[in-house]
Amino acid sequence: MAHIKTPICDQLGIEHPIFGFSHSADVVVAIAHAGGFPVLGLARELPEEIPGLIEQVETRLAGKPYGIDLMLPSKVPQEASIDALKGALPPEHVEFVKRLRQHFNVVPPGKPSFFTTQVRSEALFNQQIEAVLDSRARGVATAIGLRPDLIAEAKRRGKLTFSLVGSTRHARKALEAGVEVLVAQGYDAGGHTGPIGTLSLLPQIIAMAGNAPVLAAGGIATGAQVLGCLGMGAQGAWLGTLWMGARENHTPPALLARLVASTSEDTLITRAHSGKPCRVVRSDWIDAWEAPDAPSPLGMPMQQALVGDVFASIHERDDARLIYEAAGQSVFGIEALTTVAEQMSRLVSDMDTAWERLHTWNLR
Ligand SMILES: Cc1cc2nc3c(=O)[nH]c(=O)nc-3n(C[C@H](O)[C@H](O)[C@H](O)COP(=O)(O)O)c2cc1C
Repeated sequence: MAHIKTPICDQLGIEHPIFGFSHSADVVVAIAHAGGFPVLGLARELPEEIPGLIEQVETRLAGKPYGIDLMLPSKVPQEASIDALKGALPPEHVEFVKRLRQHFNVVPPGKPSFFTTQVRSEALFNQQIEAVLDSRARGVATAIGLRPDLIAEAKRRGKLTFSLVGSTRHARKALEAGVEVLVAQGYDAGGHTGPIGTLSLLPQIIAMAGNAPVLAAGGIATGAQVLGCLGMGAQGAWLGTLWMGARENHTPPALLARLVASTSEDTLITRAHSGKPCRVVRSDWIDAWEAPDAPSPLGMPMQQALVGDVFASIHERDDARLIYEAAGQSVFGIEALTTVAEQMSRLVSDMDTAWERLHTWNLR
């Protein structure tokens, strides 16, 4: 049996070239114990909960390496309150959402969450950055925006810096800012994404990365795909959607059912979630924003002020008709509820099978 490891595996002290992004602490812990490199997303956490969450994860990891990811778009206000933004929303949008709420019977969420209380602002980002720098995270990843000062400080504290890039322009900026690992995230990916498919993006990013390791992200759900990316020169694959099929993600049942039933065609890129193009699995709520009578979504952070409480409410109530989530074309890989350990062992054995297949062809 082959044991495929790349230089970044040795650099980070992990068994498999598989990087797992997740907002779930339980998924993060399970990925680390299964030999991958977990990356905890903190872009949706309440700022006051972040230090406690990091502490809890670090205790459970017992020294195993992990990373933290922040989303730091540049064009956000210095300070912002969600109430102030709500007061400034265009009446046409407010009216549209009011009609949708009535039509779909959306009730207000019962408890506060990031989506109902926070707005992406420089003040919020500074709080998040401080917590990340103070953590024992081995890696720090940033998406959408680049902060050269954060990158320099993270490196000074011995952390490996990653940046999610969707184009050669992004990659050049990241390298200029001193980022050490590029994550080439293609159009196929769940979450905020650009217009270039992973298979076309990856070789272009590798070509300009020089000695910097590159990871492939977007649309990856099988070990054969991981091996294919390694064959192209990537040092690993970065997966997000797949873990939503694991028990450790605590995916609401109706969302899990939607993900299991969905094919790659059931995901689409919309600005209706956050204001920036984001690939999600469709639901009646997302479809309503695609309808001819729908206004064009607002930008970030205004769109979140407009619909953040709807997102929170449909998740709280596990609303089977409306519930949606960021999800990639890789959703085809979610077939039933499973565990992270099972997913990892399947990815690794599928990588092996693909490796053996290549060898067989080579002998012919
Ligand atoms: C539910 C979900 C939330 C995500 N949130 C973030 C995020 O906060 N920050 C980030 O850098 N990437 C985020 N991503 C993107 C992942 O980091 C990763 O690039 C992507 O999931 C890879 O494509 P895949 O979904 O096809 O595996 C998210 C993805 C999903 C599915």
